[in-house]
Amino acid sequence: MLIRTAKEDVEKILFTPEQIQARVAELGKELDAQFGDKHPLMLCVLRGAAFFFTDLCRAMECHMDMDFISASSYFKGTKSSGTVRLLKDTVFDVEGRHIILVEDIIDSGLTLMYLEKLFQTRNPASITTVAFLDKDTGKPDRNSVDYYGFKIPDEFVIGYGLDFADYYRNLPYIGVIRPECYE
Ligand code: PRP
Repeated sequence: MLIRTAKEDVEKILFTPEQIQARVAELGKELDAQFGDKHPLMLCVLRGAAFFFTDLCRAMECHMDMDFISASSYFKGTKSSGTVRLLKDTVFDVEGRHIILVEDIIDSGLTLMYLEKLFQTRNPASITTVAFLDKDTGKPDRNSVDYYGFKIPDEFVIGYGLDFADYYRNLPYIGVIRPECYE
């Protein structure tokens, strides 16, 4: 693993802060239109979705509850371990609630599939999934997400919450990391 500076490690910028904010504003309006009077429970899947979640909630006008859950499957690697662990649960009773699960990225789809299954057992009124990035992994059997910000090619992206071994979450843009960093 090689970590230098963002200037050296980022191969290209996929989405600038301005493009990100414009898309988040659109998503906020779409979710408002669907959930205007439903008082959804917004659940942020830590840690990657932290920035997207706070931006998205502020782009919405409807009444909502907000909470943070934590799931992880990568454990410092660049490939999913295949096992998802729930590290922090919600404090809300989700029975009868409209849940909106907010992710930064859907990659293998395992995390979201695990969370959807888990919350389904608690009898919510509905579960809606939102991911800022939807990675094209070429796997047709992967779960789809209800709302997404952008579709991206199968590249290793960082920034706006997304990390490489916990580095670069705080970049204000989404960038692609040079393969030599992790090869
Ligand atoms: C990342 C990301 C998603 C998940 C997506 O989380 O934030 O939750 O992986 O990948 P998948 O579709 O292949 O499951 P990670 O486990 O790295 O934890 P983090 O959010 O704390 O970075």
